[in-house]
Amino acid sequence: MEQTLVILKPSAIERCLTGEIIKRIENKGLVITGMKMMQLGESILREHYAHLVDRPFFPSIVESMTAAPVIVMCLEGVDAVTVVRTMTGVTNGRNAAPGTLRGDFCMSGQANIIHASDSVDNAQIELKRFFKPGEIFSYTPSNIKYLYSADELQA
Ligand code: PPS
Repeated sequence: MEQTLVILKPSAIERCLTGEIIKRIENKGLVITGMKMMQLGESILREHYAHLVDRPFFPSIVESMTAAPVIVMCLEGVDAVTVVRTMTGVTNGRNAAPGTLRGDFCMSGQANIIHASDSVDNAQIELKRFFKPGEIFSYTPSNIKYLYSADELQA
């Protein structure tokens, strides 16, 4: 089963949106196999946003991502990376489609409530960045046969 990393950003925590976001994730049928709250610091953000370190807005990313704790999650499902990116919507909440998390809950490209891995390879790198061994669990939810057909599960 594919895994992906989600970060519920300080903008989601401070706006008390975490329950709403997690409810949508669960309702969709994604399986939560890892979840914890943590306080991010500049060094992990330099790694996570390495492609943006030289952008003028990088200090502002650090400020916004360290303003409160975050919740990191490992989500699993068939095609989980694409499914979660689609649910998340485009970077700027003002442009994100209604029905997406950013489209429904935010107005910003920075205070955009959620991060989701953009590829299967990056998901594995990012999961290792935020979770220690033993913090991601392996289990099969009892409703699995109502989430997928047998052939979807074998693919
Ligand atoms: S980019 O610029 O093409 O690399 O955009 P993207 O891949 O969508 O990732 C941008 C992430 O940086 C966060 N961020 C900002 N982006 C653009 N402009 C400003 N001012 C800005 N501030 C923060 C944005 O929320 C994206 O974060 P993630 O966590 O990857 O969604």
